[in-house]
Amino acid sequence: MKTYILGIESSCDDTSAAVIENNKILANIMANQTVHKKYGGVVPELASRAHQQNIIPVVDSALKASGISKHQLNAISFTRGPGLLGSLLVGTSFAKSFALALDLPLIEVDHLQAHILAHFIQNKEGSKKIPDFPFLCLTISGGHTQIVLINDYLEMKIIGKTIDDAAGEAFDKAAKILGLPYPGGPEIDKLAKDGDPNRFAFPKPKIPDLNFSFSGLKTSFLYFIRDELKHNPDFIEQNKNDLSASIQKTIIDVLINKLILASKKTGITEVAIAGGVSANSLMRKKLTETGNNLNWNVYIPDIEYTTDNAAMIAIVGYYKYLKKDFTDQRITPYARSQG
Ligand code: KG4
Ligand code: ZN
Repeated sequence: MKTYILGIESSCDDTSAAVIENNKILANIMANQTVHKKYGGVVPELASRAHQQNIIPVVDSALKASGISKHQLNAISFTRGPGLLGSLLVGTSFAKSFALALDLPLIEVDHLQAHILAHFIQNKEGSKKIPDFPFLCLTISGGHTQIVLINDYLEMKIIGKTIDDAAGEAFDKAAKILGLPYPGGPEIDKLAKDGDPNRFAFPKPKIPDLNFSFSGLKTSFLYFIRDELKHNPDFIEQNKNDLSASIQKTIIDVLINKLILASKKTGITEVAIAGGVSANSLMRKKLTETGNNLNWNVYIPDIEYTTDNAAMIAIVGYYKYLKKDFTDQRITPYARSQG
C-alpha cells in the first residue's frame, strides 16, 4: 500500500515542505531566509514573519513537485519542537489548519528525532544502506549535541549531551570571532581546506562520560585571538585558513573521541551522524576513517539531509502513521527538548 505524507519544518530559519511515498521522497522544497545575514544570527521575530510569507508557496511547490494532489495525502506531519517558538507556531498552525481542511490525521514530530530518522529516507532505486538497530547517532546541530542510542524507529535514548554550547554553536561563535558571516560552520569548513590543522593548539574540554562542553573552547579561542591581535592587527587576516583548520580539528576530535567512547561503552558498532555539523567535510572524513579502523558500519547523511529539511519530518510522519500515532487539534509547540 502506498502512503503519502506531507512534512512541514519551520523550527528555525528554514521553511521546508516535503512529500513522501512510504519511505521514498517525492519532493523536498526549502526556502532559506537571507534576512538574518546582516545581524550575524537568526532574529526570531524576523524568522516567524518570513515563515508566514514562505509557508504557502513552499507547501504548494512541494505538492506540485511531487505530482501528488493534496487529496491523495494520508496525513500531515509537522515539527512540534524544539526550536524558536514563533517559528514553530507558524508550521504548527498551518499543519493544523491544512489537516482540518482536508480531514486528515495530524502527526507531531520531534525535530531531533527527525534528524536521526533522516537515515531511513530511501532513494528512488531503494539501494541506500540504512542502519540496523540498535545503532548510535551523534546529532550535531546549531542547537544540540547529543549521542543517542536508537533501539527502534521511535524508541531512542540520549546517552550523552552538551552541558553548554552545541557543536554548531562552537563553529558559529569561532567564525564570528574571525569576522566570518553567519552561519559560520560552512565558512570555517571552506577556509580550513587550505589551512594547517596543527598550526595552533587549543585546549580540549575534559568532560566525563559521554557529555560535551564547548563554551571553554570558545573562550580560549577568543582570548588567544585577542592577545595575538595586540601584537599584530592583521593576525586574523594573515592566518584565517590555519585558524579555521585548527579550531575545526579541535571540535571534530572531541566529537570523534566521544563517539569512540560511546561505541566502547555500549558495544555498538553501527554508528551514524546527523544534524547541520554532519555536513562538515572533516567530520565526514574522520568518521569514515574511524569506522574503517574500528570495523564500524558508518552512516553519513546525504548533504541535503544534514541541515534542517522537511523530508526528515515526513519520514518520522510515515513511521508514526504506521503506528497510528496521531495528535489532535489542541496540540501546541515546545521550544525546549522534551527529553
Ligand atoms: O541542523 P541545523 O541545520 O539546524 C539546527 O537544528 O540547529 O544545523 C545548523 C548548524 C549551524 O551551526 C551551522 O554552522 C552548522 O550546522 N553547519 C556546519 C556545516 N554546515 C552547517 N558546521 C560545520 N561545517 C559545516 N560544513
Ligand atoms: Zn536541526
